[in-house]
Amino acid sequence: MLLGVNVDHVATVRQARGGIEPDPVAAAALAIKGGADGITVHLREDRRHIQDKDLKLLRRSVSVELNLEMAAVKEMIGIALKVRPDMVTLVPEKRAELTTEGGINLQKNKNQIEKAVKIIQSKGIPVSLFINPSIKDIEISKEIGAMMVEIHTGFYADSKGKKQTAEFKKVEKAVKIALNLGLFVNAGHGLNYSNIKKIVSINGLRGFYIGHSIISRAIFAGIENAVREMKKLVG
Ligand code: PXP
Repeated sequence: MLLGVNVDHVATVRQARGGIEPDPVAAAALAIKGGADGITVHLREDRRHIQDKDLKLLRRSVSVELNLEMAAVKEMIGIALKVRPDMVTLVPEKRAELTTEGGINLQKNKNQIEKAVKIIQSKGIPVSLFINPSIKDIEISKEIGAMMVEIHTGFYADSKGKKQTAEFKKVEKAVKIALNLGLFVNAGHGLNYSNIKKIVSINGLRGFYIGHSIISRAIFAGIENAVREMKKLVG
C-alpha cells in the first residue's frame, strides 16, 4: 500500500534556529530512496514549519505523489492551484494546536469545504478530506464530491486496551462505509511502528500518511532506514 511520508518535522527543527538545516527537501529525497510512495507537507497559515519555498522546491524535485495538506482558505487554494501538487488534503487548522487535532467538522463547514473541493478538483487536482471516523462526515464527503478521504486514526493511536479496540472498530467501519460509497480511503495520524499493524489489516485502504514516528526514528536510524522499516510494515 501507499506510504506517504510527512516531512514537516524536519522543517520544525530547521525553524527552531531559523537557518537552512535540516532541509526538508533533502529529507524527502532520502525518504523516497527508502521507499516512500509519496511526500506530504502541511503549509500552515502561520508557516511554523514548511515554507512556501520548500513547497516550490519539492514540486520541482519530487516525482512520487506530492500531497499538500492545507486549510480550506483562499490563500492556500491560490497556492495549490499555482504549485499543483498531485493531491490536496484539506485539514482543519487551529493556530494554537501542536498538531492537527481532529478531522474536519463537515457538518459545520460543509459549504466552505464544498467550495474548496470544487475549485481544486475542477483544476484536475484530487482532494482528500481529513475526517474523523464518523458516518455522517463520510456521507457528506461523498455528497460534496471529494474523491478521497483520510480517516483520522489519532483516537485509535492515543488510546489503550478496550478503548483502543473500540476506536479501531470505528476506523474499520468508517473505511468500509467510505469504500462502499466509492471513495478512495486513506488513514493517518498518530500511526507508528507498532500500532500500524492493526490498521494495515483493514481491507481496501489505499494508503497511510505518517510523519512524527518516522521522523523520530530517523534521528537514530537515518530517514532512509526509518522509511524502509515502515514501508515493510505497510506492504
Ligand atoms: N495526516 C494528516 C491529515 C495530518 O494532519 C498529519 C499531521 O500533520 C498526519 C497525517 C501525520 O500525523 P503524524 O505526524 O502523527 O504521523
